[in-house]
Amino acid sequence: MDWGLKNRLSRIIKSDGKTVMLAVDHGYFLGPTSGLEDAEKTIRPILSYADALMPTRGIIRTCVDPSTDTPMVLRVSGGNSILDEDLSNEGVTVAMEDAVRLNVAAVALSIYVGSPNQKETLLNLARLVDEGHRYGIPVLAVTAVGKSMARDARYLALSCRIAAELGAHFVKTYYCDEFERIVKSCPVPLVMAGGKKIPEYDALELTYNAIKQGAAGVDMGRNIFQAGSPVAMIQAVRAVVHEGATPKKAFELYNDLKKRRVSKKPRLKGVTASSADLSRH
Ligand code: R5P
Repeated sequence: MDWGLKNRLSRIIKSDGKTVMLAVDHGYFLGPTSGLEDAEKTIRPILSYADALMPTRGIIRTCVDPSTDTPMVLRVSGGNSILDEDLSNEGVTVAMEDAVRLNVAAVALSIYVGSPNQKETLLNLARLVDEGHRYGIPVLAVTAVGKSMARDARYLALSCRIAAELGAHFVKTYYCDEFERIVKSCPVPLVMAGGKKIPEYDALELTYNAIKQGAAGVDMGRNIFQAGSPVAMIQAVRAVVHEGATPKKAFELYNDLKKRRVSKKPRLKGVTASSADLSRH
């Protein structure tokens, strides 16, 4: 691996071999996802807690402070939308030259193994890896699953291994039973995708289980920015990923930080904040 590529990867995956990536790229096919309608407002308070941010180039340029130290993992595939019956029809949406201009630490592209567009998405990955090597930019392969596709260890191990064989430098996939089997057969670091919003404790438990079974961290979106307190949640996720906190400890931390943030809110003189006010934070 070239020095530049290693250097960029080390900004994302920290010296403990772990990372907490914050995924905010949902809009590339979902449009205004709940919690990201005003992406700038959502990203601003949590950005500094993320080891890396995963946005599209449109969101970087319009919603992310260019003076940030947080490395960007740029989503560079798309062309599909939630209205498609088959989501697999994706192409590369960003020239590597623009990724360099944006000073990204890595680029990310989805592959759809077993879908009608399997070959195209895999060849896109292979081409992106070639270009990544030319410019020293690592590639994250996202093992996407279609609306009706299985998320079991057999399928996800197949997708992750193919991604690594084609040269992906790290891979993002879903948690499932026998997750360890996927990790063991994937020769590059594997980060866990968060998936749809679940209760905060459950998301911390999911993170804990993935890390225990060998994940190099998480690339989590909705379970952070749709949490009751996104700032508290990302810190709780960090505690699990970087400090080995148990779900119970991390959930206590979440509640504690959430409470402190609520109590810091300014109150109108002589007026106690209503429960409706509190529920917004
Ligand atoms: C997946 O294809 C995209 O990268 C998603 O936007 C990302 O995985 C979403 O993260 P989460 O499922 O944790 O909201």
